[in-house]
Amino acid sequence: MKKPRTLAEPFKIKMVEPLRMTTPEYRADVLKKAHFNPFLLRSDDVYIDLLTDSGTSAMSDRQWAGMMIGDESYAGAHSWEHLQQTVQDLTGMPFVLPTHQGRAAERILYGILGGADKVFISNTHFDTTRANIEFTGAQAFDCISEEHSDTQAELPFKGNIDIDQARALILKYGKERVSAVILTVTNNSAGGQPVSMANARELRKLCDEFGILYVIDGCRIAENSYFIKHREEGYAHRSCREIAREMFELADAFVMSAKKDALVNMGGLLVMRDKALAEKCTNMLIISEGFATYGGLTGRDMEAIAIGLVEIFDEDYLHYRIKSTEYLGRHLHEKGIPVLRPFGGHAIYIDAKALYPHIPVEEFPGQALVCELYTQGGIRCVEVGSVMFGKNDEHGRLIPAKSELVRLAIPRRVYTQSHIEYVIDVFDDILEQRSQTRGLRITHEPPFLRHFTARFDRL
Ligand code: F0G
Repeated sequence: MKKPRTLAEPFKIKMVEPLRMTTPEYRADVLKKAHFNPFLLRSDDVYIDLLTDSGTSAMSDRQWAGMMIGDESYAGAHSWEHLQQTVQDLTGMPFVLPTHQGRAAERILYGILGGADKVFISNTHFDTTRANIEFTGAQAFDCISEEHSDTQAELPFKGNIDIDQARALILKYGKERVSAVILTVTNNSAGGQPVSMANARELRKLCDEFGILYVIDGCRIAENSYFIKHREEGYAHRSCREIAREMFELADAFVMSAKKDALVNMGGLLVMRDKALAEKCTNMLIISEGFATYGGLTGRDMEAIAIGLVEIFDEDYLHYRIKSTEYLGRHLHEKGIPVLRPFGGHAIYIDAKALYPHIPVEEFPGQALVCELYTQGGIRCVEVGSVMFGKNDEHGRLIPAKSELVRLAIPRRVYTQSHIEYVIDVFDDILEQRSQTRGLRITHEPPFLRHFTARFDRL
């Protein structure tokens, strides 16, 4: 059989950002000074930054050209018209509000829909979504089936919402208390797993049955569409953009962090069909973000988002994007690294508890891997385990998270295939050092969101 060709980028490089090469000794020293928390590192000391795929994309020459013609008028700017038209064409929804990032759209929408006694239901609420809902006094429930939570089950749409669980919650709390159902595509907190069109359609039926608002959190909608095209029957001959459009047709509203699939470094959107709700949201937008025709954005930001929302549906780009993530996952799996399967769209998740069975959860195996990846290879990534989600009981004992994962999130159009090869190579050192790798203890932690600023010491 002919050897398959290497995965090559469907873009070439016009501007470069030099990366500093450092030694393991240097990195060990700066990591210690950063209290073994890579969030406290300087980015200049990082070689491959896989902390997040959010706001880290490389813009295209067309987006940069668009920045130059950004219209910075306070009201009625043509850049706003361009963005509004693009979003209306993509979603079929008439009311578009620009925000500075995803969580600003969440704060406005859930601030209006939420309140004590209210209930929100999702496949999985992203942390900022949950925080914005709970901040209003409302409750947020995640509905993922047992089968779909199994990290090794090879299922095509592990991001799906469990309709039976959602229905049971609606019946339990009463439809009047359920403010919205939020479908997160792809499902970031559940491993970047996709949601099928069949599932999105079933959810529409459920919302119709009870008269509940249907929101899509679609910051990775293009990646999700690629999975539908390649995994769901009947979609192979449809374009990813058409698939996205079909999914939007099912929903009543759409919130987006443009920092992901819109290929920009900053921006967000709040989009809906209902005029009365749009008016309430617009009032809040003007109070907290900016006038209705720019929200939290500059004209040049809006121009870049409008162009990014077209580029993201380029089939060559999407193929490369998903295959590159899969390539990383497959090679780590083949090396014997325990990875969450199947591979997600924007990130690969490693099961650090399985990698380091000798490190108890109280000593944070995920944080140990994060530190090793930085020291061995200058790779920065994030623990998604008991540092992020664990809590202490009244005796100061750890109540661990459900799992001890480490996320390698891949910025869009930033790293090349050889950078990915490099990351794979670093895992040889991780495996070599495996039995000697030690856990950590927390020496200082803030009351909220401790993973950002906690300090650690090596055990
Ligand atoms: N919804 C989802 C599914 C997200 O992944 C994020 C951000 C947001 C909402 C909030 O958007 O950051 O623009 O305010 N996720 C980033 C991440 C931070 O690293 O996964 P934002």
